[in-house]
Amino acid sequence: MQAEEREAGNKTEAKRHKRFEVLENREVNKDGFLKEWPEVGLIAMGSPEDPEPSIKIEDGVITEMDGKSRDDFDPVDDFIARYALNNDIAEEMMALDAVEIARMIVDINVTRTRVLEVFSGLTPAKIAAVMDCMDVVEMMMGLRKMHARRTPSIQGHVTNVHDNPVQMVADAAEAGLYGFSELETTLGVVRYAPLAALALLVGGQTGRGGIITQDAVEEATELQLGLRGLTSYAETVSVYGTDGAFRDGDDTPWSKAFLASAYASRGIKMRFTSGTGAEVQMASAEGKSMLYLEIKCVMLSKGVGVQGLQNGSISAIGIPASMPSGIRAVLAENLVTTCMDLEVASGNDQSFSHSPYRRTARTLMQMLPGTDLIFSGYSTVPNYDNMFAGSNFDCDDHDDYLIIQRDLKIDGGLVPVDEQDVVAVRNKAAQALQAVFEELGLPQITDEEIEAATYAHGSKDMPERDKVQDIEAAEDMMERGVTGLDVVKALGEHGFEDVANNVLEMQKQRVSGDYLHTSAILSPDFKVVAAVNDVNDYQGPGTGYRLEGERWEKISNIRQALGPDDI
Ligand code: 5AD
Ligand code: CA
Repeated sequence: MQAEEREAGNKTEAKRHKRFEVLENREVNKDGFLKEWPEVGLIAMGSPEDPEPSIKIEDGVITEMDGKSRDDFDPVDDFIARYALNNDIAEEMMALDAVEIARMIVDINVTRTRVLEVFSGLTPAKIAAVMDCMDVVEMMMGLRKMHARRTPSIQGHVTNVHDNPVQMVADAAEAGLYGFSELETTLGVVRYAPLAALALLVGGQTGRGGIITQDAVEEATELQLGLRGLTSYAETVSVYGTDGAFRDGDDTPWSKAFLASAYASRGIKMRFTSGTGAEVQMASAEGKSMLYLEIKCVMLSKGVGVQGLQNGSISAIGIPASMPSGIRAVLAENLVTTCMDLEVASGNDQSFSHSPYRRTARTLMQMLPGTDLIFSGYSTVPNYDNMFAGSNFDCDDHDDYLIIQRDLKIDGGLVPVDEQDVVAVRNKAAQALQAVFEELGLPQITDEEIEAATYAHGSKDMPERDKVQDIEAAEDMMERGVTGLDVVKALGEHGFEDVANNVLEMQKQRVSGDYLHTSAILSPDFKVVAAVNDVNDYQGPGTGYRLEGERWEKISNIRQALGPDDI
């Protein structure tokens, strides 16, 4: 046979190799993958349309940035040039080589403070060039040094398909035992929001004191719930890297800044949300790379003055994850956030892959270095109950996660729990909510519901509630002006003094506002742990956060391990 014939034969027959047939049925091949298409922005890093770094400053005003003159700035460029760059040192920092800056990030002998100073004088295109010099291990080393709070932590999702508050209060309490420091919910039916806020508040303060909570709903309701002391943080204020994407929501960087102040000025912890892929999804990428646009979002957030950012693609994760080097770009956006001295809630909060290997590899990028909040939504509920479209890890993965922590001696933010402790705290939380509902004149929570919530895996195990009645009561509760203090009174009058005290403490935090500092979380005894009193001082072995002592004892002591007495 001639070579050409052989080749033609191979093509037409296409007899399948059995190994490929097996491979095609693997989980990973249910995922979608795309080739780069820069014209529409389907490129993770380094689009041919990304600008070259440049800066010109005249009389203290930026007159050119990344090859664009001031007259051609769109509102995003304008905002960044006005508020996100330190004009006094920008020319000096822009003169540094990108690779030299990348080495400073990795070099343990260069302090975090110095890197922050350098970054305060860089343009978006320059920062993109710096990230392009780094591989993922170097980025992880950078993240280890640059994340703001020394002690890593974790945020959780607490949702269910029926917006059932009895299940929600129990799930929030259980999450408290596992060690979550922030808990958030979102709803199938938005009008359920006030009852969900109540459930998270009561459940959060039953599991342990000091959990801060969010009810991610439409802005007016969310603000109202916050102002009344029923929630304590907000993070779903989205920003984008192009003007087109902002226009899509009738917004500008200035309107987002106004909204941010509305929350923060009333003692509600505030961070923005952004992430690679959003602009492509909104057909507004202007041919730029996902990372370049995301860097603009990070800088914009810095310019607005919010203390932190939830990024790491977030709800757009399917898009970078389909691209070459996409998960690297997602790590890069987290790193850039920390290099701007912002708290990072680093994603891992939406399912993007059917493959447990890909899911784990993606999460190790943030879990190993530790970030302010490694997950900005680990699902504390089963995947089918996750109303944020599913997370990268959920409650059925708890043991895998706990054992990975133990294997690697890494603090991923979770601690092993005792089954009977969980049962007890779920029961107590459901009873506490029953009392609050009764006192506030909300529809009854029955003992049967409490029993179900105590042992439930998820909503499939819960009796149904009368949703119409619940929603009407939720509206009425808002009309009557119920606040956090009414919850304190209700709990106190029914013998839940400890939970009442914790809810009262949360109200006090709102007034003192100490937890508005960068990267603040609260310890179980309501001490603020933030980048001001627990700043990341990592400078190589022997420094920074180390998993040791009592905490390591706890994390290593999983229930599955046998000791000498068990054998
Ligand atoms: N960019 C901007 N906003 C985002 N959100 C999620 N992902 C992104 C992103 N990549 C917002 C959604 C919603 C919340 C979950 O976060 O708009 O409000
Ligand atoms: Ca979140």
